[in-house]
Amino acid sequence: MTAASTVAESVGESVLDCVGGTPVVALRRLFPGPDVEVLAKLELMNPGGSMKDRSARYIVESGLRDGTIPPGCRLVESSSGNFGIALAMAARVHGLEFTCVVDPKTTKANVAILRRLGADVETVSEPDESGGYLGTRLRRVRELLAAVPGSVWVNQYANDRNWQAYYHGTGAELAEQLAHPPGYLFAAVSTTGSILGCARRLRERFPGLRVVAVDAAGSVVFGGAPGHRELPGIGSSRVPELCRPDEVDEVVHVDDVDAALGCRELLATEGIFAGGSSGSVVAAVARTLPRLPKPCRVVAILPDRGDRYLDLVYDDDWLAAARARRTEHRGD
Ligand SMILES: Cc1ncc(COP(=O)(O)O)c(C=O)c1O
Repeated sequence: MTAASTVAESVGESVLDCVGGTPVVALRRLFPGPDVEVLAKLELMNPGGSMKDRSARYIVESGLRDGTIPPGCRLVESSSGNFGIALAMAARVHGLEFTCVVDPKTTKANVAILRRLGADVETVSEPDESGGYLGTRLRRVRELLAAVPGSVWVNQYANDRNWQAYYHGTGAELAEQLAHPPGYLFAAVSTTGSILGCARRLRERFPGLRVVAVDAAGSVVFGGAPGHRELPGIGSSRVPELCRPDEVDEVVHVDDVDAALGCRELLATEGIFAGGSSGSVVAAVARTLPRLPKPCRVVAILPDRGDRYLDLVYDDDWLAAARARRTEHRGD
């Protein structure tokens, strides 16, 4: 037996084996103090660039296992960002076709990444009755499903496997990683799959946990009037079927400007280059922390990296325009 053969190998079957296992770090520079501890789960370290790698992998692999996703079929989904990219990656690995329905607000970079990953990208151009594109995108999804026999709509807003991916993934990992109970979970929401999956798993181990949803100002996930918002990933213009407001203790709305400032603070103090919704989470924690009973331990989910936001939260002109919009809106 050679020396090399006695060494245990650690080799994944594909890039999907690198999904998950993300670290937790303390944000002591951003949130100093003897009686507060803010811990960040770095979901931005997933290989496709976001936590959505988890739901894409889980949905595709469970579907292939139970036959609801037939081998070689075409997946169809409406997504303008991380979930589309994660699905494209999972479809590549498992030899599936994938059509991603996007709209004119989808960034050029995301369309390029989707195409490079082999996805067919369909861009709708007509806004719907509300002035947004969601209705038109969903109509196009239905047309594609009718036109392509055997195609499967992933439908992350209503698919229970979405929250289950985080129950078995992020939530289970946190339950292992934390020896002492956290008092609060802060997580950004869109479909609500990740917050619900994490909350359900963490509450089994830490029953006293309070769950704080961080939503975009102008999102309707937890009610409220729809409004202009520019950051992808966080918020929704319709209430997701998965949403269970009774499982959330508090909702904090954060606008585009505060999200950008949160991102910049996180980068300046901790050297963590994260996306818009991570900035929203940081802003929500900073706003809430002063009134939380001490000592206080918070877990915050940081969903994606900053690279896809260089023209948004990290762009000074974009921030200036967002500030001007906010001032105008507040003056109304
Ligand atoms: C960057 C980012 N943050 C937050 C979310 C919200 O996650 P969920 O859809 O699980 O509520 C998403 C979802 O796409 C996202 O991409």
